[in-house]
Amino acid sequence: MEFAALIAAWQTRHGRHLLPWQNTRDPYRIWLSEIMLQQTQVATVIPYYERFLARFPDVQALAAASQEDVMPYWAGLGYYARARNLHRCAQEVVALWGGRFPARAEDISTLPGIGRSTAAAIAAFAYGERSPIMDGNVKRVFARHFGIEGDPARRATEQQLWALAEAQVEAVPGLDMTAYTQGLMDLGATLCTRGRPDCERCPVQATCVARRDGRQLELPTPKARRAVPERSTGMLVLDFEGAILLQQRPSPGIWGGLWSLPEFDPGQDAASASRALGLEPTARYELASFAHTFTHYRLHIQPWYVPVRPGDLRSATVPERWVPADTLSEIALPAPVKKLLLGLAEAGLPGDTGLLR
Ligand code: ADE
Repeated sequence: MEFAALIAAWQTRHGRHLLPWQNTRDPYRIWLSEIMLQQTQVATVIPYYERFLARFPDVQALAAASQEDVMPYWAGLGYYARARNLHRCAQEVVALWGGRFPARAEDISTLPGIGRSTAAAIAAFAYGERSPIMDGNVKRVFARHFGIEGDPARRATEQQLWALAEAQVEAVPGLDMTAYTQGLMDLGATLCTRGRPDCERCPVQATCVARRDGRQLELPTPKARRAVPERSTGMLVLDFEGAILLQQRPSPGIWGGLWSLPEFDPGQDAASASRALGLEPTARYELASFAHTFTHYRLHIQPWYVPVRPGDLRSATVPERWVPADTLSEIALPAPVKKLLLGLAEAGLPGDTGLLR
């Protein structure tokens, strides 16, 4: 049997069949899952996916919402440009396509936030279109199986992989595109994993170049490593009688549209950073620092806990938002900020106001 036919047959018998975005042809549900699953694992996505669909059951509901309505349903998933594009995409589907998702991968890929592979996955799952996918996991499967050298993120390597992907689909007339596409994803996620591929159970082991040559861990060729830059920031946990000061992050940008703690240059101290916000607190407490890793850099965060008493409020208004600590779970917070604040609420702190009581 051909490669693609073996993968499809394996998926039908051994693949995943009960994921919440399977067993539907609704392009909205399929599209939403594919966007959430970019850079994010299945187990993380499932609860977000279900909450999102309960609130925005179809493309019309999403298009009619504001960006502000959408962000809380994405908070914690990361890569927030995905959520902004998702919202724009829904509006485009309504405005330009009469509220119906286009059926061809070529048209789907013109929508915001949808690249070639995601467009192909949506077209295959929703409409059975014979267009191949080539995402990160599938690149690994193909690089190993066909013995393709070179960093798959490089254009020349990528073009070679896409050409192979097209050839596999063309070689099997009548291929079940849903089973094949899901099969590639399932194989990459469960057997042909990065660290410890389980070749004994692989449906295409007999023709795999990496397995033949014992090169499973050398392919795909790793990216030439550049050191990730390191950055540092201070964060203020300003606590006014149990309410925490939050500011909305500018969009676009890191955590764009989410609500976060005021930040300050680590060269500055927490007292002067508080004064810059029009506050004159009398005490401040250094909390444990921690790091958060983004795609392009690592951010070291030094939080300070600053209780604010009524008398410390020098200016009557601060143009941001004081959020009661017990309602923080309703706000669209970046994951590390959420972890910090919820951890604080549990742990108890120095001082005598707000969160401490
Ligand atoms: N990753 C991307 N798309 C997926 C899908 N449909 N099922 C499981 N994991 C995926």
